[in-house]
Amino acid sequence: MSLLETREIGVALGDVQVLWNASIRVEPGEIVCLLGPNGSGKSTLMNAVSRLNRLVSGEIWFDGHALHALPAHRISRLGVSHVLERHRLFPYMTVLENLLLGAGPKPDPQMLKRRFERVYELFPRLKERERQVANSMSGGEQQMCAIGRGLMGDPRLLLVDEPFIGLSPRFRDEVTRALLQLNREGLAILIIEQNVRQALAFSHRAYVLKAGQVALSGPSTELLGSAALEEIFFGRARSSPEPAPAHHR
Ligand SMILES: Nc1ncnc2c1ncn2[C@@H]1O[C@H](COP(=O)(O)OP(=O)(O)OP(=O)(O)O)[C@@H](O)[C@H]1O
Ligand SMILES: [Mg+2]
Repeated sequence: MSLLETREIGVALGDVQVLWNASIRVEPGEIVCLLGPNGSGKSTLMNAVSRLNRLVSGEIWFDGHALHALPAHRISRLGVSHVLERHRLFPYMTVLENLLLGAGPKPDPQMLKRRFERVYELFPRLKERERQVANSMSGGEQQMCAIGRGLMGDPRLLLVDEPFIGLSPRFRDEVTRALLQLNREGLAILIIEQNVRQALAFSHRAYVLKAGQVALSGPSTELLGSAALEEIFFGRARSSPEPAPAHHR
């Protein structure tokens, strides 16, 4: 049984349907990437999984639970954490307070201690800055805090929407290293990333969305450099180069 499975889901935002028949799955221990041009429905799909978007059709299953029948607040308790695009921290709360909110209501003190230790081990910088308010930190630090907050719920599946956006190469590397480490420890990850090459280098499998539908999927190593992928992102296959202008010899 897959850890996560969406079965032919459709989503409408307001009166407009923006996702059709999207079927994806994430197996235990996998990193799966959602790729696609801007506006293709990546965030819409991820938001449907965490129940921020309502379905107009289809089903979502997580570890035997029918997510489509549950309210959003039940999802995190089942073991799904969602790190939203542009981190969405509480800007005037400290790092510590933001992390604490990720642990849910009335957490057990011992459990809380272990989770803080785990997050601080992964991102020592957050420990150094635990009393600092979130909006006074750099974009990279805020992204670490957002991922840390997601981990405080002790998820089995982490949903991450464009964690690298706007980050310097150094922070990019640090966040990548942390996600890979978490995956080695058994955490399944569904990630949205714009940079096709980096996303495919980093993930086991990928789904490519185009205009609200899954247009392509497969193991990342097979998709890397495939003509079908080039077609979706650049409108033409690399194997059929444009004819050279006549004067250009
Ligand atoms: N609140 C909304 N109401 C109506 N349409 C929306 C709303 N939010 C997004 N859309 C539309 O839904 C479609 C899918 O948007 P979505 O944000 O899922 O795309 P995305 O693949 O995540 O894009 P990006 O790479 O820019 O983040 C787009 O056409 C977008 O304009
Ligand atoms: Mg998006």
